[in-house]
Amino acid sequence: MIRSVVRGNGAALPRRIMKNADFEGMVETSDEWIVQRTGIRQRHVAADDETTASLGEAAARAALDSAGMTPADIDLIILATSTPNNTFPATSVEIQNRLGMHHGFAFDLQAVCSGFVYAVATADLYIRGGLAKRVLVIGSETFSRILDWNDRSTCVLFGDGAGALILEAGEGAGAITDRGVLAASLRSDGVHKDKLFVDGGPSTTGTVGHLRMEGREVFKHAVGMITDVIEATFGEAGITAQDLDWFVPHQANKRIIDASAKKLGIAEQKVVVTVDLHGNTSAASVPLALAVAVADGRIKKGDLVLLEAMGGGFTWGAVLLRW
Ligand code: UT7
Repeated sequence: MIRSVVRGNGAALPRRIMKNADFEGMVETSDEWIVQRTGIRQRHVAADDETTASLGEAAARAALDSAGMTPADIDLIILATSTPNNTFPATSVEIQNRLGMHHGFAFDLQAVCSGFVYAVATADLYIRGGLAKRVLVIGSETFSRILDWNDRSTCVLFGDGAGALILEAGEGAGAITDRGVLAASLRSDGVHKDKLFVDGGPSTTGTVGHLRMEGREVFKHAVGMITDVIEATFGEAGITAQDLDWFVPHQANKRIIDASAKKLGIAEQKVVVTVDLHGNTSAASVPLALAVAVADGRIKKGDLVLLEAMGGGFTWGAVLLRW
C-alpha cells in the first residue's frame, strides 16, 4: 500500500526573542507567574519584515534541504495558518511563488492550533489517493499580530514561528512497522467557538481583530479531548502508549502536556517539550517541536512518533507516524 513517508523537515524563527521579564513593564505579570502556570520562558516575535509567508518560506527551504529536494520536486503545498499575510490570496500560494514554484497547487488550511495535525492528515489523503506524490506541509504563524498587548491573560502565551515537513509517497506493507503516516483522527465542535476566537474578520467587522480566550475553560476541556483522540488513534493503529518512541504534543501549556501524558501512560522522557522556548505558536508548534527533537538526535529514522494538537473551534486531532 501507499504510505506518506517523511523525507525532511525544517523550521524558522523570528530573530527577536522576548523573555517573560520583558512583559513586566507592559502588563501586570511576572516571570514567576508565567513559568508556573504555563512553562513558557521566552517566545520569538516577528519584526515588520518577518511574516507568515517569509517564515513559512524559510522553514520550507530548510525542509527541502534536509530532504535533498528542490521546489521542482513538490506537487502540493499545504499551509496551516490562522494568521495569513492577507485575507486572500492564500499565503501558501505566496510561499509557492517565493519558492519559484509555478507548477502543482497550494492551499491554506485553517484549524488554528490543530492546523498542522489536520494538514498532515490531509496531505496523507492526497498522497494515498494518488493526487500528489510529494507534499510540503507547513505550519506558520505570526500570532503577535493578533494579540491584544494590553491583555495579560493572552499576550504572554503566544509566539511566532514556522515549521515544515516533506511527505513523499512510498511503498508499505500495510503493517505498523511501515515508515510513514500510520493513523490519524481529527475532531471539531463549534459549540466551543466563543472560548478561543478572534473578535474580527472580513465578513463580520471588516477588521483583523484580536485573540480572545477563556483560558480556564480551554484548559478544562483540553486534557480530556486530547486523550480521547489519541486513544482513538491508538485503537486505529492497534498500539498502546508503551509502543511509542516520542510524543510531540501541541505546545500551549506544560501543565496540559504533563497531564495528558500522565493520563495516557506516556513516560516523561518520551515527551518533547519546547513550550519553554517558543510559547504557543499555534499551527507552527508541532513542526517546531519536531525540528528541535530531530536536530538534537532524539527522533531518528524508524521511530514511532505521535503528534497531537487542540485549539480554537474547538478543533483537535492526532497523527501517528513512523519517522
Ligand atoms: O493553543 C490553544 C489551546 N490553548 C490553551 O491550551 C490554553 C489553555 N489555558 C491555559 O493554559 C491556562 O488556563 C492559562 C495559562 C491561560 C491560565 O492559567 P490558569 O491556571 O487557568 O489561571 P486562571 O485563568 O485561572 O487565572 C488565575 C489568576 C487570575 O486572577 P484571579 O482571578 O485568580 O485573581 C488571573 O487574572 O491569574 C491571573 N492572571 C495573571 N496573573 C499574572 C492571568 N494572566 C496573568 C498573567 N500574569 N499573565
